Amino acid sequence: MAIIDTEISAAFLTEEQQEVRMAAREFAQRELLPGVIERDTHEIFPAEQIKKLGELGFMGMMVSPEYGGSGMDTVSYVLAMEELSKIDASASVCMSVNNSLVCWGLEKYGNEEQKRKYLVPLATGAKLGAFCLSEPEAGSDATSQRTTAEDKGDHYLLNGTKNWITNGGNADIYLVIAQTNPELRHKGINVLIVEKGMEGFTIGKKEEKMGIRGSDTHSLMFSDVRVPKENRIGVDGFGFRFAMETLNGGRIGIAAQALGIASGAYELSVQYSKERKAFGVPISQHQAIQFKLADMALKVENSRLLCLQAARIKDAGLDYAHASAMAKVYASEAAMWVSTEAVQVHGGYGYVKEYHVERMMRDAKITQIYEGTSEVQRIVISRGILK
Ligand code: CAA
Repeated sequence: MAIIDTEISAAFLTEEQQEVRMAAREFAQRELLPGVIERDTHEIFPAEQIKKLGELGFMGMMVSPEYGGSGMDTVSYVLAMEELSKIDASASVCMSVNNSLVCWGLEKYGNEEQKRKYLVPLATGAKLGAFCLSEPEAGSDATSQRTTAEDKGDHYLLNGTKNWITNGGNADIYLVIAQTNPELRHKGINVLIVEKGMEGFTIGKKEEKMGIRGSDTHSLMFSDVRVPKENRIGVDGFGFRFAMETLNGGRIGIAAQALGIASGAYELSVQYSKERKAFGVPISQHQAIQFKLADMALKVENSRLLCLQAARIKDAGLDYAHASAMAKVYASEAAMWVSTEAVQVHGGYGYVKEYHVERMMRDAKITQIYEGTSEVQRIVISRGILK
C-alpha cells in the first residue's frame, strides 16, 4: 500500500511537527501495515505495535516529560493520529483513548500521588488505560449513570456495568464514572481510578464488531469493588464535568482518526485509478472518476483543516468544545463518505479485503458513533452557537 503525499497543510507546520508526522508515517508503513488485514479478520489486538508506540513516546504524546510523556502539542497528536489511522484505525484508537481520555484528565485533574502512581506508567506505555462512561442504558444520555459509587467513608463501593469499553480487556488502569448522589444528578457523579485485578471487577464479553476489529471492546462488571477514596479524581461530584471535558479533547483524537481513514482511502483511490484500465485508458482519465477524486480531496482537506484548527485552539489554551465537536462531526461523516466512494472507485476489487478500502469503510462507521454520536456533536455545536 503506497502512500501518496498530501502536503497541503504541511506548509504551516513547524519542523518538529513535520518530524512527528514522518515518524508516524514510517511507523505505520513498517509496523502496522504488515498484518493489518489479519488482525482485522481474526480480531487480534495489536499488543506488539502498541508496545512499540509506547517506546516511541506516542502513548503519552501531550503529557509533560516530568510525568513520562513526550510534551508535544495537540497539533502533533492530530498529525500522528492521521498517519497511523491511514493504515490501522484499530491501533490508533487504542492510542487515542490512552492519550486523550486517560492521560489528559489524570494530568490536568489528578493529584501528585495519582500522577506518579498512574500517569507515569500510562504515559510511558508501560500500562494501558481505558475510559469507562457508557452503560447499557446510558450512551448519549451520559447523565443517566446507573453504576453506583457508594460513599463508605474511606472507600467507595462500586457496582454496575459498563459497555463498549475500548481497551477493555487489555487495559491495566480504568477511569470509571459512577453515581454517588443520585438526587444531585450529574453533580453527584464521581470518577474513580480502578485497577485491573481489584476484587469484584470482572472483564465481560468481547464484542464482535463491524469495524476496528483489532481493538478490544468489552463490557465490564463491578460487584462491590472497594475503591480507596484516594482514587477519586477531583472533588466529590466532579466526575461528570471531568468526563465532558475529557471528551472535548477525545473528540479531536477521533476526528483525526476519521481524517486518517478518509485520507488513506482517498490516497489508495488516486493510486488505483492511475493503475486500473477500463475502456482503453486508466480510469483516472474518465471524468466520472476525476469528479469523485476531487470531491474526496475536498472532504479530506476540510477535515484536516478542522482537526488542525481544533488542535490549535486547544494548544492556545482557549475553549475548544465547539471546535472539537465540529471537527469530529465533519471528519467522521467525511470518512464514511470518502471510504464508501473509495470502494466504488475500486469496483469489485474494493469489495475484497486485499485492497484495504472495505476495511476502511467498516472502520469509518464507528467514528460517527463513539465519543459522542454525530447527533451529540450537533447538540454541542448548536449550544455553542445559541448560548
Ligand atoms: N464540555 C464541558 N462541560 C460540558 C459539556 C462539554 N462539552 N457538555 C456538558 N457540559 C456540562 C454542562 O455545562 C453542565 O454543567 P453545569 O450543570 O455545571 O452547568 C453539565 O455538563 C450537564 O450538561 P447538560 O445539562 O447540557 O447535560 P445533558 O444531559 O443535556 O447532556 C450531552 C449533554 C452533550 C448530550 C452529553 O451528555 C454528552 O456529551 N453525551 C455524549 C457522551 C459521550 O460522548 N459518550 C461517549 C462514551 S466514551 C467513548 O466512546 C470512549 C471510547 O471507548 C472510544
